[in-house]
Amino acid sequence: MLAALAELRAGDAPTHGGRVLSYVYDSGLAELDELARDAAELTRPLNALDPTTFPSVAAMERELIAFMRKALNGSATKLGGGPVVGSVTSGGTESCLLAVKTARDLWRAEHPELAAQLARAGKRPRLVTAATAHAAFQKAARLFDLDWDPVPCEADGSVRAAAFEQRLGADVALVVVSAPAYPTGAIDPIAQVAGAAKEFGLSCHVDACFGGLVLPWWPAVDPWDFRVAGVTSISADLHKFGYAPKGVSVLLHRGRRRHRAQFFATTSWPGYPVVNPTLLGSKPASPLAAAWAITKRLGDGGYARLTASCVRSADTIIRETSTIRGLNVWGAPTGPSVALVTDTGLPEADQVDPHHLADELARSGFRIQHQPGFTQANGVRLPHTAHLTITPVTEQTLPELVPALKAAADAVRGKPRANPRIEYGALQALGYAPKREGGPFRVPSPDMAWRILKIAGAGGSAGGKGSSLPGRLAPLMALAEKLPAPVAEAILSELLARVSEP
Ligand SMILES: Cc1ncc(COP(=O)(O)O)c(C=O)c1O
Repeated sequence: MLAALAELRAGDAPTHGGRVLSYVYDSGLAELDELARDAAELTRPLNALDPTTFPSVAAMERELIAFMRKALNGSATKLGGGPVVGSVTSGGTESCLLAVKTARDLWRAEHPELAAQLARAGKRPRLVTAATAHAAFQKAARLFDLDWDPVPCEADGSVRAAAFEQRLGADVALVVVSAPAYPTGAIDPIAQVAGAAKEFGLSCHVDACFGGLVLPWWPAVDPWDFRVAGVTSISADLHKFGYAPKGVSVLLHRGRRRHRAQFFATTSWPGYPVVNPTLLGSKPASPLAAAWAITKRLGDGGYARLTASCVRSADTIIRETSTIRGLNVWGAPTGPSVALVTDTGLPEADQVDPHHLADELARSGFRIQHQPGFTQANGVRLPHTAHLTITPVTEQTLPELVPALKAAADAVRGKPRANPRIEYGALQALGYAPKREGGPFRVPSPDMAWRILKIAGAGGSAGGKGSSLPGRLAPLMALAEKLPAPVAEAILSELLARVSEP
């Protein structure tokens, strides 16, 4: 079994060494991985569902929350709103979902009449985020019956505080700001938005899933955490820049009342009393144990040193990108997320398409992440880009990564974007018309979605044995961008479903 698994693992992208600039967060310190492995193994048989039966779970959670509360400046006894308390969750998405569920439940409890009035009018309370907020908030809105109301961004991906303020009102269950937003690496105008939310009496969540364990040590960052009076909750992922293995994040709330609104409890069934602070019931303790051990081992000083390495690498990558003709850094990132975008101010022959760049760079072993472009409701287009997550190990790879980036840019400079209109024609040849005249978009059946994917090059050989992923993602991204969102979402779901279909 283990030999078979090792063979399967050999086909995976490398999780260490800095070749994959998304998904994985490599501290570059092998001893941390060993520590995490041993801590996870020691706690593997536990069920973290019940910390009274397994008090080690409570002890680790207590200490991990205390560490995060201090890092996010929530320890001061004089903070308004009561003590900062919280829970360990299974990851960023769960922290974001719970932040939304909590705020919604509090909003409903505080606005019974408005809730009833909205329901009568067939409306729902709103969840206000920047257009660049993580998609987990769209998921939360769908799951928890809210209207996602995205605040449009400027073309450089930044969002103005005034644009946020225009959206605020009594029917807003939660305002979300990001520190930073994943697609741009930019920090939202948190102090202004949280201040405005406070004036309206609204909950304001800071999504620091990405930045929560780097921004506390990043130089010259304006206050964005519990120092800002209007901030009511913060999410921060230990399985990102906390360097723990996957499956661990925290959600902190200002005040016990908020935290308790996150819980589900029932005595109305004949089994054991169910009290779940998070979404899962039975759950592993290993990710918590690994994060606990790593934070103890690294402490404030360790995180400061690892962050300093990310700062140096981010500075270098931003500086070197500015020397690459036809390519720019998108917007103004603060932190370890950087997105590369075409310099459209130059003639087309000099432009570098970020998705062709990403495909080309993969040939030299570095993987950066394709981010599709998208047009907001107000017509302002956010460009397609290529994302880089910079981790401490990136610094070791810079002598290879920077020349590889330059060579890839040279190889694709002037190459026009895949023209999805050709594929669109092919779609029609398949007998598929995505848009009914004046009506809703027709979502393709699984089989039609698969045929559309094949046109885009899925089922190609470069994805590895048995894989249905296309080798070059640029054409697929261009197609997905061009198709109506429900159709693109259906074909991308189909792609993922087919990957693991027996
Ligand atoms: C800002 C932000 N929020 C939320 C998430 C979701 O986290 P996860 O993938 O751990 O569920 C991410 C993931 O990249 C993120 O960058």
